[in-house]
Amino acid sequence: MKKIGVAIVGFGTVGAGVAEILTKNHDLLVARTGLDISLAKIADLDITTDRGVKVDPAILCTDAFAAISDPSVDIVVELIGGIGIARKVILAAIDAGKAVVTANKKLLAECGAEIFGRAADKGVDIYFGASVGGGIPIIRVLREGLVGNAVRRINGILNGTCNYILTRMEEEGLPFDDVLADAQRLGYAEANPSLDIDGFDTAHKALILAALSYGVQIPLDSILVEGIRGLDGRDVRYAGELGFKIKLLATIAREDDGIKVFVAPTLVPKTNMLASVSGVFNAALVSCDMADDTLYYGRGAGRFPTASTVVGDIADIAMNLAAGEVRHRNVIPKTGEASALVPASEMRNAFYARLSVIDKPGSLGKFATILGNHGVSIAAAMQKQGDDKPGAVPVVVITGKAREAGVKEALAEILAAGVVAEPPVAYRILKD
Ligand code: HSE
Repeated sequence: MKKIGVAIVGFGTVGAGVAEILTKNHDLLVARTGLDISLAKIADLDITTDRGVKVDPAILCTDAFAAISDPSVDIVVELIGGIGIARKVILAAIDAGKAVVTANKKLLAECGAEIFGRAADKGVDIYFGASVGGGIPIIRVLREGLVGNAVRRINGILNGTCNYILTRMEEEGLPFDDVLADAQRLGYAEANPSLDIDGFDTAHKALILAALSYGVQIPLDSILVEGIRGLDGRDVRYAGELGFKIKLLATIAREDDGIKVFVAPTLVPKTNMLASVSGVFNAALVSCDMADDTLYYGRGAGRFPTASTVVGDIADIAMNLAAGEVRHRNVIPKTGEASALVPASEMRNAFYARLSVIDKPGSLGKFATILGNHGVSIAAAMQKQGDDKPGAVPVVVITGKAREAGVKEALAEILAAGVVAEPPVAYRILKD
């Protein structure tokens, strides 16, 4: 039986999960692939800490580059994360002619062109199934199951940390800071939670989905990224009263005016399937021209869900190697231009806006006029019972479809006009 050697570089949570699956389900993999896929090397700076998985101590080493060049290694699995050393490891593996598996969304979103270009030049496979959605094989779905479809739209809940925080805010009426502190205590949120709560982790994943869907490499700094930091519990409550849940949503869409990619807290109608995705779970609703709507749901992080997708990639590459093929050399064919991206300021959405209106004659008229002057029409306005500052009343406005820039300019002008007691907030509404 042909033997395929795997090197894991980065023996952390996911690395240990991959080692365990390859060991525990070895015979299952043999039966399904006809190949002996085995661990050949595990590289990490720390090889003394117990990772909770039994491996042959002889395969542990601290030199990632020595592991990569070892002749027993056919596939290099990069699970270090971040950009610096992870980028060097992947490029060294490609240069050594080894196939690569990575779960590193940040690296692919920010250095994808270099890495995919090098893999294509050297004729090696690079797989990245676990970079989006953890245990949900969404990347494989786009590449294989839906390959005959044009993607109209993907809406995704792609960050479990944020979804956990939003779910607890909604279900328990807790403030953002309290839930974040709890999430950190429970290990769901990092000590420095910025990548998650400021939306960048979701944005990295959105850029990978956009690249797969539309063949474009879009720079991170050209898309709108808003996170959930400081989300006010009043908005979660008012949105709920209006029939919505607030979710941190990635939107990847192609419409008549171009490609739209953005990440923002979004009001999702409770009737939409994404509204029932709770806690740390992820989901993606993919709308295509032929298959129409399909929904993918599962654990977006964690040792075994993420490792499961990594092992799926390893098995696929192993079969390619056995067949003498490189199947995904051009994994992200460049079929589109990033210039097709609609600038964030020109995107049009319906908005929910909350204004803490100073209770004096003419305030309502004034802010309605300012919205109108910026081309923002009011579809509904409601005065809520609230605990705003003394002398101020919360007013929630639902707008018609409006230009992003128009809404932002109007809200800034409303604040400057002195008709509100605190800065107004606005969130986009997902149409059902
Ligand atoms: N930090 C991510 C999350 C998992 O909370 O979903 C890794 O992408």
